[in-house]
Amino acid sequence: MDHFLYKDGVLHAEDMAVPTIAAQVGTPFYLYSAATLRRHYRLFDEALDGMDHLVCYAMKANSNQAVLKLMGDLGAGMDVVSGGEYARAKAAGVSGDKIVFSGVGKTREEMKMALMGGIRQFNVESEPEMIALNDVALSLGVVAPITVRVNPDVDAKTHAKIATGKSENKFGIPISRASEVYAMAAKMKGLKIIGIDVHIGSQLTELAPYKAAYEKVRDLTETLRAEGHEIKRLDLGGGLGIPYERSNDAPPLPMEYGQMVKETLGDLGCEIEIEPGRLIAGNAGILVSEVIFVKQGEDREFLIVNTAMNDLIRPAMYDAHHDIIPVQEAAAGIEKTPYDIVGPICESGDTFAKHRDLAPLKAGDLVAFRSAGAYGAVMSSEYNSRPMIPEVLVDGHQFAVIRERPTLEDMINRDTIPEWL
Ligand code: LLP
Repeated sequence: MDHFLYKDGVLHAEDMAVPTIAAQVGTPFYLYSAATLRRHYRLFDEALDGMDHLVCYAMKANSNQAVLKLMGDLGAGMDVVSGGEYARAKAAGVSGDKIVFSGVGKTREEMKMALMGGIRQFNVESEPEMIALNDVALSLGVVAPITVRVNPDVDAKTHAKIATGKSENKFGIPISRASEVYAMAAKMKGLKIIGIDVHIGSQLTELAPYKAAYEKVRDLTETLRAEGHEIKRLDLGGGLGIPYERSNDAPPLPMEYGQMVKETLGDLGCEIEIEPGRLIAGNAGILVSEVIFVKQGEDREFLIVNTAMNDLIRPAMYDAHHDIIPVQEAAAGIEKTPYDIVGPICESGDTFAKHRDLAPLKAGDLVAFRSAGAYGAVMSSEYNSRPMIPEVLVDGHQFAVIRERPTLEDMINRDTIPEWL
């Protein structure tokens, strides 16, 4: 459930009419609902009720400072994957002991930054990383808390570009080698083993792959404990999918996921950590755009909108579906037109949808791309020299621009022409 609903035929974000915001901010822009973000965080928190747990928001999904502050105020931890994300989390007021550092390629500088600023744990993904982290920790005279990310070799049944738990993927160490790697870690004075980490992919629409992975983690917990390691925390990753196509999809709910976690791992006495990103932010955001032209092609009509693949790359990159709806609700029973909805960028990949049935639209009409709160703004670029678009947060009947639209000058002035040219 989200808070983007029609009221009197006009799309609202909570209590704010979308056209009112569009008139002040200009299009295109991302629009987030604070109530939806809060609701989604709480769904996970409640799903793990009864177990010692921390929901670490995977901030790669949406790392705007306002979103992080809102999450932090709810008590969320953060899952970060770069020094930049770490710095953003700290800047939003999240304390180091709630920040988990994931990722296959942490640099020594990033390790140092996190060790000095405070860290809950590093999720280590390889032996070379372990050696580097041990070195950095010893040089600073501190001990780095770690889990090792294991690759359970299960098929997450999601898009190949966002599956991470198969042996062919670059992530984690093969679970079959875990004993060896934990024994190696245990000998390093700069590291302290605290648990196990696993993350098998994103936009998962079934519980079975999770269950298969978590059963392996369960066995591994017992094995490692028998080998003398302290395993007190299990980081179970993120990845629970959202219904991008409202008409078709029905991924499992956080409550069902939580139930499965309790059944599979509940009696191990471990603290549970999860790292959801998409389910928290995805349906808490829309992308509001305006029709520039309706163009008649040979055999189809193109709806050319003023947002493009540089603002929302998911359709071009993953063939992802986003529901696209008119901001002014279509009259009941009106005959729909199949549109190809495209952006202005000079490549055919800049296509958001093909043959999408919508009530007839004209230049100047507003449309909203749903489910755009996660992996939208954060993956945007200025390709074709299109400045980044603003982000707006609504909370009840108030709203604020939480990232300004840069001017063309701002964009150009980021470059420098060498004096000798
Ligand atoms: N934890 C780790 C270690 C991850 O790699 C990810 C996502 C998450 C948690 C959060 O997964 P989520 O709950 O958001 O599914 N750009 C792609 C998604 C990439 C996901 C990468 N890792 C997209 O737009 O679909």
